[in-house]
Amino acid sequence: MIDKATVQKITDAADIVEVVSDYVHLIKRGRNYVGLCPFHNEKTPSFSVNSVRNFCYCFSCKKGGSPVNFIMEKEGLSYHDALLQLASKYNIKVEEKELSDDERRQLNEREGLLVANEWAMTQMEKALSDTEEGRSIGLQYLYQRGVTDEAIKKFRLGYNLDSGHALADAANLAGMDRKSLVDVGVLGESQKTHGSYYDRFRGRVIFPVLNPSGKVVALGGRDLKGGMAKYINSPESAIYKKSNELYGIYQAKSEIAKQDNCFLVEGYMDVIGMWQSGMENVVASSGTALTDGQIAMIHRFTNNITLIYDGDAAGIKASLRGIDMLLAHKMNVKVLLLPDGHDPDSFAREHTPEDFRKYVNDHATDIIRFKAQVLLKDVGNDPQKRVAAINSVVSSLAHIPDKVKRNVYIQECSRILGVSEEVIEGAVESSRSDIIEQQRRQRQANDIDRIDQNENNPQPDISKNIRPANSDRMVEMYPYYPMERTVIFQCVRYGMLDFCEVEFEDGSTGMINVAEYIAEDLQADNIWFSFPAFAKTFNRILDLKEDFLKEYDAFEENLFKERKEMLQKGYDEIATKNMNMVEIRRAERILEENVEEEIARKRYDFARYYAEQKLSSHQDDDVRRTVMDAINDEQPLSNIYMRNNPVSERKMELDRMRVLVPRGVLEWKNEMLNQMIRAKMKQLDSILGRSNPEEEQKILMETQALMEKRGQLGKVMGDRTIGKKIK
Ligand code: UTP
Ligand code: MN
Repeated sequence: MIDKATVQKITDAADIVEVVSDYVHLIKRGRNYVGLCPFHNEKTPSFSVNSVRNFCYCFSCKKGGSPVNFIMEKEGLSYHDALLQLASKYNIKVEEKELSDDERRQLNEREGLLVANEWAMTQMEKALSDTEEGRSIGLQYLYQRGVTDEAIKKFRLGYNLDSGHALADAANLAGMDRKSLVDVGVLGESQKTHGSYYDRFRGRVIFPVLNPSGKVVALGGRDLKGGMAKYINSPESAIYKKSNELYGIYQAKSEIAKQDNCFLVEGYMDVIGMWQSGMENVVASSGTALTDGQIAMIHRFTNNITLIYDGDAAGIKASLRGIDMLLAHKMNVKVLLLPDGHDPDSFAREHTPEDFRKYVNDHATDIIRFKAQVLLKDVGNDPQKRVAAINSVVSSLAHIPDKVKRNVYIQECSRILGVSEEVIEGAVESSRSDIIEQQRRQRQANDIDRIDQNENNPQPDISKNIRPANSDRMVEMYPYYPMERTVIFQCVRYGMLDFCEVEFEDGSTGMINVAEYIAEDLQADNIWFSFPAFAKTFNRILDLKEDFLKEYDAFEENLFKERKEMLQKGYDEIATKNMNMVEIRRAERILEENVEEEIARKRYDFARYYAEQKLSSHQDDDVRRTVMDAINDEQPLSNIYMRNNPVSERKMELDRMRVLVPRGVLEWKNEMLNQMIRAKMKQLDSILGRSNPEEEQKILMETQALMEKRGQLGKVMGDRTIGKKIK
């Protein structure tokens, strides 16, 4: 753990222009900078860097954020590792927080295993190119399979000498911890003679599995002698969870983002074959079905995935496995079948890169269309098979979160399957409500887990990928999501600005800020954010007040000095000019006005941008994301009105805030009442005519009361009064 003060130091030091400039050529445009987006392919710059507010944003692919976000996204690093990278860029010494013995042990263990793997891999890379045996056996094998020197270097291929104890001896000589080498599966420990070690990968060509930051987490060793096991792989360890890694991700990640597509193949050699054919955005699941964690990893770089399989029966079956999971992750999935008997590696060897790429472009099919066609082919005249096929397609359709997309597919599948759209739609919608209920329960369980996990010790969790923008799924799960979103966004923007004066319990009066006003207003009606990321962000904003007040004092002190200096400098300048008394007075008055304006602007900016500055680099994914979404959602003020007129810009924004903030909460409450009224009416409907007049009367009254409340809500719009109690 990096302590809070150091995190602050790093995020304060990290300058977005400098950080981005390491990756993007930036051109100054007004107060901002622009450049070609590093996250996707483009010819005209849509990537903008705001140097004042210290964040970047791509108007086209919507990626970006604070310096930490940028590094995380660009390098595929965890929050912690991104901070370390920035710390080293700015020469900031990182004192990792005192760890508990248990944490330290785990960290040391992981560190030790990574060192062991890296050492072994380096040895085996050298053995491949620098030894006679390596060249004549390992290299010879790779060349014969068409692997180029360039690929060997890029994928860090190696060779484990065949003596049986080459690495074990070298480890001994080098003083390497052999226990760690055993844990990562490079060495085996002899059962008979305790304390003697042997090479587990002896006589094999080695394919290292690198994690997104390029660390060797596992090895795969290809047999060359026709032995029993074609590949042996590293065992799972503290640094290797098979289901969370993808072979080739380190080499492919930036190309995946650029091409905005990821090819998924089965094996090590397939990745290398595709790479050599110029399709560098490729990863392998290493022969197993895709997992949630792997999908989430791909999802960090793109929404589009193309599965590539052998066109035989097994390949077709494999391609249909796990597509519901991909669809539920909001991925656009295509599938490409190679001619029977080919895998990407063999296909690459028999075709030129141009032909291969053309084949991919011509034959990639949308997965749902593909599935419907494949299943239909199997049906024949069997009505039972037909029903099963339709149900299977319906299940996939129901996993598509986006309604518009779902409807397009429903139309198409209705055509392919020869079943009416209404029938399919009905089946999909009913299956969908089950899925939503399931997901809701899952999320609830996750939320509780996450809260339990203690916010100060967040696990980098790449499996959750909630980045909702008003999607119908969010509304289904959180009925007030759109209103909550509006309110939290206002809170991020204006949270620290003064809102109004209130009387506290003890009779004293004081200012509350926008965030506190909102909290008060919500609590008055006993409501709160239901969407977890918003609730968390809101609490963080409320927490900021204390630090804000502290820093504000120091800020005012500075401002006082600054004002004095600005005035002094101005007076001195005026004195050097040759002016008469009247002119001097006028010049001084203008100077004073300008200085006051400058001071007012600084004071306003301090509060206006305080929350976003503090939270856009916050350790919690949800908080950071919510804050960035709020910033990106800002509506610019009318250009004509504010051009070169910062006074009115500020005033306009404040005026707008005073109207929008109360209205946001009001609309939220209004929607709640609407839904409650609707529910009551439904209830009334269901008991009407069942001769239970008392019950009817009761519900009728309740409905009436809710409607009255709704009516009153509309009226308070104009003059808001707020409760007396704060906290
Ligand atoms: P394949 O059998 O398709 O191997 O298994 P391949 O990659 O095409 O290898 P070559 O071309 O025969 O040399 C696909 C993937 O499944 C895993 C490996 O990750 C392999 O790349 N696998 C396969 C194993 O882990 N162990 C095995 O014994 C076989
Ligand atoms: Mn193969």
